[in-house]
Amino acid sequence: SPRRRLVNPETERAQLVASCQLTDSALLTLKAPYAARNAQPGQFLMLRIPNRPDLTTPRPISVADADLTSNTVSLLIQRKGCGTTVLCSLRQATEVLLWGPLGRPFSLLERGRALLVGGGVGVAPLLFLAKRLTECGIAVTAVYGAKTKTQLHLKARLESLSDNLVVCTEDGTEGVCGSAVSAMRQQLAQNRFDRVYLCGPPSMVRHALPLITKAKATAQVLLEGRMLCGLGVCACCTIKWQGRLLRLCTDGPVLDVPAAAEDD
Ligand SMILES: Cc1cc2nc3c(=O)[nH]c(=O)nc-3n(C[C@H](O)[C@H](O)[C@H](O)COP(=O)(O)OP(=O)(O)OC[C@H]3O[C@@H](n4cnc5c(N)ncnc54)[C@H](O)[C@@H]3O)c2cc1C
Ligand code: FES
Repeated sequence: SPRRRLVNPETERAQLVASCQLTDSALLTLKAPYAARNAQPGQFLMLRIPNRPDLTTPRPISVADADLTSNTVSLLIQRKGCGTTVLCSLRQATEVLLWGPLGRPFSLLERGRALLVGGGVGVAPLLFLAKRLTECGIAVTAVYGAKTKTQLHLKARLESLSDNLVVCTEDGTEGVCGSAVSAMRQQLAQNRFDRVYLCGPPSMVRHALPLITKAKATAQVLLEGRMLCGLGVCACCTIKWQGRLLRLCTDGPVLDVPAAAEDD
């Protein structure tokens, strides 16, 4: 059988320079020159805090921005359990250990129009992607969905990085009332896109994939499954994708959704 690719990660001691507290999450800015220089949209970092016995295993978090001028990376972290709660409550100047950047990034379109669809904190990697795509002259339409208005944390940033932003909330408190998936369906029916980029909770991805296939669009999806090592060693992130067993940390987290054949 082919030898599986294992990753020997770069470790960086980063310093927390800012932590902006949001309703259910926090936006962290870390001084991390190596990660800032090397991160590509779609890649993630494994985060650990030295001397914290309650955070022995690292947590994977997508890079939401990388700034080469300030040598910083931004991360949007939603409080889920113990690890993310600790990360969201870190004080300024805390040292954070980073592995990475890891994983297969999004591939950037060279020309044409892109549709970015993000739900909840799934919008974080799409923000970084929108920045790189607009730098390459790609026309970006973004769909940003959340449960409610107060969870649209990165709306202003995404608006400044896209040509057209469609906001939707499930309770109708801002933008279109409904899900990001129905807004995506509408966009696919009305416009032609050269690629769809998708990231969000598993239920959103499950509903979106058949619609993308039906629209015969080419897409890439970032899956945020569970991970332990992030390096291709433990196999806990194994998933079945297009009939093949993949390790999400090294074969993903960005996976291709092949366009349906013309006569499908
Ligand atoms: C490639 C990748 C990129 C990610 N990027 C981000 C990001 O940018 N921002 C962000 O907030 N989160 C992101 N996540 C998810 C994040 O890593 C998990 O929420 C975190 O590891 C949970 O750790 P915890 O200790 O807080 O929760 P735990 O105590 O481990 O779990 C708490 C609860 O959350 C559930 N849970 C844990 N991990 C996940 C998961 N991956 N998906 C769904 N439910 C989960 C558990 O089943 C449990 O119910 C990403 C995950 C991956 C794999
Ligand atoms: S998380 Fe260990 S192999 Fe992927």
